[in-house]
Amino acid sequence: MFFLSRKKKDSDQKTISGQMPRHIAIIMDGNGRWAKERRLPRAMGHKAGVETIREIVKECNRLGIKYLTLYAFSTENWKRPEDEVSSLMQLLVEFLKKELDELHKNNVVVNHIGDISKLPEPCQVELRNAYIRTKNNTGVTLNLALNYGGRNEIVFAVRKILTDYSRGNIKVGDITEEAFSRYLYTAEIPDPDIIIRPSGEQRISNFMLWQCAYSEFWYSNINWPDFTVQDLHKAIEDYQNRDRRFGAVK
Ligand code: IPE
Ligand code: IPE
Ligand code: MG
Repeated sequence: MFFLSRKKKDSDQKTISGQMPRHIAIIMDGNGRWAKERRLPRAMGHKAGVETIREIVKECNRLGIKYLTLYAFSTENWKRPEDEVSSLMQLLVEFLKKELDELHKNNVVVNHIGDISKLPEPCQVELRNAYIRTKNNTGVTLNLALNYGGRNEIVFAVRKILTDYSRGNIKVGDITEEAFSRYLYTAEIPDPDIIIRPSGEQRISNFMLWQCAYSEFWYSNINWPDFTVQDLHKAIEDYQNRDRRFGAVK
């Protein structure tokens, strides 16, 4: 479709010197507004957003980013109309079916975080299959955050800790910040260095509440379907100019 195709620019292949963030997380937002501006149904905005995902994953891989987390469906997004929820779930299945070969060929690990047990069965099947097939790859790890909520994640962690406690596997004194982190969905993943949110909203919307303690935030007014590789480069370069002190004096 005409509005889904995007012209490649020379700057797409730009090299960025300096230290790359290890983990980039993106709150993909503005699909609905993008569609509304074009008098299209919201589902078309989500479809256009998938095109951006393809390009951003490819670019993160090319730049040597180790982790890319995409917030794709929150624990609150179930409040949306049923047809929008089902079109999002359908898009996810289509994306995984269509893109998995290419992602695998490009050495991408396709992982997921969130309580996927509440997703429709075909989504769960594709997500598990994608992970099993790609888990030994060494390129960027694409974490799809689905039915993800930061509060839900913390509550789940507390339940798992209490289960371990009741079985005598851990003691109260064992619960340190580090130990707690290992009970989160992101147990194996470093905290995001930068959290990008397009579409003009400047809020966290229940995303990575524990992990964002020292993340750098980067906002832009661009809706996610219009977000380009150049915008990603700008976010990374801005990140590289931030002074991260982690509470210390530099
Ligand atoms: C982001 O776009 C996609 C999801 C939350 C699933 P939105 O659908 O939130 O788009 P806006 O915010 O309504 O423009
Ligand atoms: C956050 O976007 C969730 C995802 C991007 C998956 P929302 O559009 O749901 O957030 P709010 O409602 O504007 O805070
Ligand atoms: Mg939104």
